[in-house]
Amino acid sequence: MNSKEFKDHIGRVIVSEEEIKTKIKELAKSIDAEYDGKPLLLVSILKGAFVFLADLLKEISIPCEIDFMSAKSYFESTESSGNVQIEMDLKKDISDYNVIIVEDIVDTGRTLAEIVALLKARNPKSLKVVTLLDKPERRVVEFNADVSLFTIPDYFVIGYGLDFGELYRNLPYIAEFNR
Ligand code: IMP
Ligand code: MG
Repeated sequence: MNSKEFKDHIGRVIVSEEEIKTKIKELAKSIDAEYDGKPLLLVSILKGAFVFLADLLKEISIPCEIDFMSAKSYFESTESSGNVQIEMDLKKDISDYNVIIVEDIVDTGRTLAEIVALLKARNPKSLKVVTLLDKPERRVVEFNADVSLFTIPDYFVIGYGLDFGELYRNLPYIAEFNR
């Protein structure tokens, strides 16, 4: 694909770079205040959330560690629940940590519902979920993040870590995907 074809699929900007920066700074401040003096672990869900994690991490000024997980959902063919496969698990025992899951987007809610249940069973000191984007209209499983920075309508979006066919993660903003 050349740059012309690439650009043709980049639609309207839904959340600008500046809006993202401002919200991340506010979130980092509240994390600094809430977790100072407590062992803090930020858990990012690959691949989509790595850009959000990196920018959030740089704004946090208290001691914190990071770890990664990756999950795959299999819901295309079946509507049954519990079909989230953990492709890569955490390297750490989380029982001594206050954990914040850092996610790119809550769509049907299935991925996070599964991951939260899995991590809760490992008895972290506390567990919260922070998401950059939330598409509540698409929810299939009842799930609410503790913090969601932007609520968006039912658009398929790209950029800032989010992909279509593994592309467009490098855009510094969130845009609608033009098919
Ligand atoms: P879930 O449906 O809430 O389990 O979300 C599963 C995953 O689908 C998210 O973590 C994203 O990686 C991906 N996803 C959902 N909506 C979008 C979108 O609009 N653009 C890109 N990826 C998406
Ligand atoms: Mg994701």
